[in-house]
Amino acid sequence: MRAMASINGEIVPLAEARIPALDRGFLFGDAVYEVIRVYRGKPFLFEEHLARLRRSLEAIRIPYTDLDGLRRRVLKLIANYGFREAIIYIQITRGSDVTRHHVFPAKVSPLEFFYVEEFEDNLEPMRQQGVAVITYPDLRWDRCDIKSTNLLANVLAAQAAKEAGAYEALLYLPDGTLLEGSRTSCFGVLGGKLLTAPTTPSILPGITRALVLRLAREQGIAVQERVLRLEDLPQVAELFLTGTTSEILPIICVDGKPIGEGRPGPLTRRLQEAYRRLVSAL
Ligand code: PDD
Repeated sequence: MRAMASINGEIVPLAEARIPALDRGFLFGDAVYEVIRVYRGKPFLFEEHLARLRRSLEAIRIPYTDLDGLRRRVLKLIANYGFREAIIYIQITRGSDVTRHHVFPAKVSPLEFFYVEEFEDNLEPMRQQGVAVITYPDLRWDRCDIKSTNLLANVLAAQAAKEAGAYEALLYLPDGTLLEGSRTSCFGVLGGKLLTAPTTPSILPGITRALVLRLAREQGIAVQERVLRLEDLPQVAELFLTGTTSEILPIICVDGKPIGEGRPGPLTRRLQEAYRRLVSAL
């Protein structure tokens, strides 16, 4: 896949991009990130992603403010290299010091890293047929609303899903509350209502999640921001994942047990169609 990177404004092929070993993103996971989908050369929901990046930066006090410059540099790279179907990955780290200390360096100069990579969307069969998921304990911290690069608990959950032959792991708390996937948000239909976890510090406020809530309201679908629980699953009629690259992905089976009738449901289909229309009209 063709991929070009930018490190503090210097453009190189992604395979040649190098980050200093003392960079705090590498040493401490002291960094935040975004992933954005590009359709036909146009970044989708770019402003929403930049706004979330700003919130994440402020939450962990990284003094990086050049979001206007970042937007320009990303758009220029996409245009100059003729990217059409692509992914933008942006990571801002607190930068490097002369040695390793937990506390912030006295003089911090954040590192701006991003790349644009061609994206071959091979998820369409899964969007049509639906996927299987597993449930997995949520081992993350108390600020999952910050899109930080500390993703170890997410990585372990995603790997457990893969080893179980599933697409994703739904994370749950000790009391059975289902929050979201390792890299996706989660929606369910229960009692005729579309439910998704409210935006508390326990979940990432997904950009796709917010769009799907808007589309559902426009479609006159009854929506409630309320958590589902493990014990609700036998009564759940439909379940689906949302995310930047997943878009809207029906779940037909959790831990080997079918959801609803074991195939994508009607509300999921309506929302998928609304999503597709929006992207086609870009
Ligand atoms: N993942 N929840 C978590 C924990 C996520 O990491 C993500 C995104 C989402 C969906 O958010 P959005 O709709 O804004 O993509 C929900 C990105 C894509 C990733 O880590 O690759």
